[in-house]
Amino acid sequence: MTRWKIACPAFPLRGHVPRIYPQNGHPIDHSARPGLTGPAAAFFPGRWRVAERREEGGIATHIGMIGSGHIGSTLARQFVEHGHEVAVSNSRGPETLQVLVSELGDRARALSADEAAKFGDVVIVSVPFGHYRDVPADGTAGKVVIDTNNYYPSRDGHFEQLDDDETTSSEMLAGRVKGPVVKAFNAIRWDHLRDMGHPEESADERIGIPISGDDPDAKHTVAELIDEIGFTAVDAGSLGEGGRKHQPGTAVYTVDLPADELRSQMLQPK
Ligand SMILES: NC(=O)c1ccc[n+]([C@@H]2O[C@H](COP(=O)([O-])OP(=O)(O)OC[C@H]3O[C@@H](n4cnc5c(N)ncnc54)[C@H](OP(=O)(O)O)[C@@H]3O)[C@@H](O)[C@H]2O)c1
Repeated sequence: MTRWKIACPAFPLRGHVPRIYPQNGHPIDHSARPGLTGPAAAFFPGRWRVAERREEGGIATHIGMIGSGHIGSTLARQFVEHGHEVAVSNSRGPETLQVLVSELGDRARALSADEAAKFGDVVIVSVPFGHYRDVPADGTAGKVVIDTNNYYPSRDGHFEQLDDDETTSSEMLAGRVKGPVVKAFNAIRWDHLRDMGHPEESADERIGIPISGDDPDAKHTVAELIDEIGFTAVDAGSLGEGGRKHQPGTAVYTVDLPADELRSQMLQPK
């Protein structure tokens, strides 16, 4: 089994533990995890820890971006600013991303999508959903896969199983990739993601980012990354049920609710 090491240089320095709320509204008690006790348990949540890569006294995560448009490049910028190593990729090839890489600085490189997936300990898929079958599946084995995508039939073409609500776009991506999928960053506009993160605010006051997924440790890793860039992860539930609570057309989609308000919304049955 892949062993991961924790990814967030800022947390030990800031001295607080990122909070992620399950559907009963109580923070998950990571100290209850087998083999881990005390404060370290919150930082070493288990299986999905990110490979050891130290920088400036902290530990940087390698993040591979599949898609580097509005959302992908915004996240890439936020994560390099927080000390992580990022690989950006798109459909046209790394040579088309040189301007972005030079803006992002030394912690960024442009790779092919295949290489970016292999590079990342966390792989962020941020492409028009209609292209989900092009996501390099092999490179995602043993990785946390973040799905920012939304299904827009007018852009992506019709998928009958989605139109009939038999499944969700995230579950379809999960059927393709090999690591656990966490849906996140899909319900916030890219420019609000760029401008509205406030690490200095309390977790409840910050804008909440709904996340859904079936692997608690993967969700914990994603919650840590969200916390670092000044938002608060709010657990919407499983990839299927939770995902339906924050997809286009839902009450919370692109509304930018404070985390405590978003949490109440997520407690409502779908
Ligand atoms: N824009 C928003 O405010 C927003 C907010 C939340 C969620 N989302 C969702 O997040 C996803 C990305 O949105 P966006 O606005 O960032 O889109 P975008 O600006 O159009 O960027 C899409 C990116 O995906 C890349 N791409 C397309 N096909 C690819 C493939 N087969 N392999 C690798 N990369 C590929 C594109 O590369 P090329 O340019 O080379 O084709 C481009 O870098 C969408 O599903 C969207 O619905 C968007």
